[in-house]
Amino acid sequence: MTTKRRILTGDRPTGKLHLGHYVGSLQYRLAFQEEYECFFIIADLHMLTTKPTKEDVAQIGQNARDIVLDHLAIGIDPQKTSFYLQSAVHEIYEMHLILSGMVTVERLQQLPTIKDMAAAAGMEQMPYNLLGYPVLQAADILMPRAHLVPVGKDNESHIEISRQIARRFNNAYADVFPLPDAYIVGGTLVGTDGQAKMSKSLGNAILLSDDSASVRKSVMSMYTDPNRIRADIPGTVEGNPVFSYHDTFNPDKAEVEDLKERYREGAVGDVEVKTKLYNALEAFLEPIRERRAFYAEQTGYTDQLIYEGTQRAQEEARQTLIEMKKAMGLTGVWNRIRRANERRQKRLAKA
Ligand code: TRP
Repeated sequence: MTTKRRILTGDRPTGKLHLGHYVGSLQYRLAFQEEYECFFIIADLHMLTTKPTKEDVAQIGQNARDIVLDHLAIGIDPQKTSFYLQSAVHEIYEMHLILSGMVTVERLQQLPTIKDMAAAAGMEQMPYNLLGYPVLQAADILMPRAHLVPVGKDNESHIEISRQIARRFNNAYADVFPLPDAYIVGGTLVGTDGQAKMSKSLGNAILLSDDSASVRKSVMSMYTDPNRIRADIPGTVEGNPVFSYHDTFNPDKAEVEDLKERYREGAVGDVEVKTKLYNALEAFLEPIRERRAFYAEQTGYTDQLIYEGTQRAQEEARQTLIEMKKAMGLTGVWNRIRRANERRQKRLAKA
């Protein structure tokens, strides 16, 4: 039997997943699951770097279930994937501390991603855990000794740091970790407002779990060429979110070309363009809804998957941490003290 190479990737449990997640990452996870053994982290400790309140923590459980259900709904096979809750794997916290010696504060301070996250969260000062976000991510990746890490462009620098940390650990002590490769997945989907990347918090998202009525409402009120106040005015297709969604989700390329041509000529109404987009999105979402309903009917199934996946991760993490401490010689330090103490206690008992 050949063992499969491993993938580690995942999400912070901040809410339900949307079409932007599908375009930017979920579709790749789906493609990778055949070839790799997959670990999908529910990165709640990472979430705490910007959302640490008691109210935020209270959302983690439901968000974790929703994320798992979203993955099952798009066709992720629970036989091939372990979903696990980061905060329930205490070895990750331990690894994080040990690995934090393999990167400098200056290196972390230079990362735009960290500064951006702090700014987006309205933070005036940098919390220690947010500065260490990539170090914690390195612990996640090195924990199952993953080979490949599919992430968006925005996470590329973090995987570079994971590689550096792995290399430094291996050089300093012993070869414990394969060097993880980033696999940059991509494509961002603009929000229905046409203004920014799709994001639930901006209210410009279509969720994978949205019902037909919500999808229709979102599509019909989508931002489009603002200069086209009447259907007979020529419109712009480039950069128009309605057409970028058509390009992404409408498999009928002839229909899309026809709509574009007529739009440019001022020979089609918005309602027709949007209705056809709505139909295409519904065709895409319908099988997703069916799988969701199938899994949602089995009460407690997502909890069982997270439980089993987390147990699996705990076992992996336990072994990796043992290897790390052995490589460093830490295990020996403790064992010598423990054994010396045992001998002393025996002597004392005899005397
Ligand atoms: N940083 C990822 C995000 O942007 C989440 C994450 C945490 C992650 N740990 C990871 C991704 C490890 C890939 C590998 O939400």
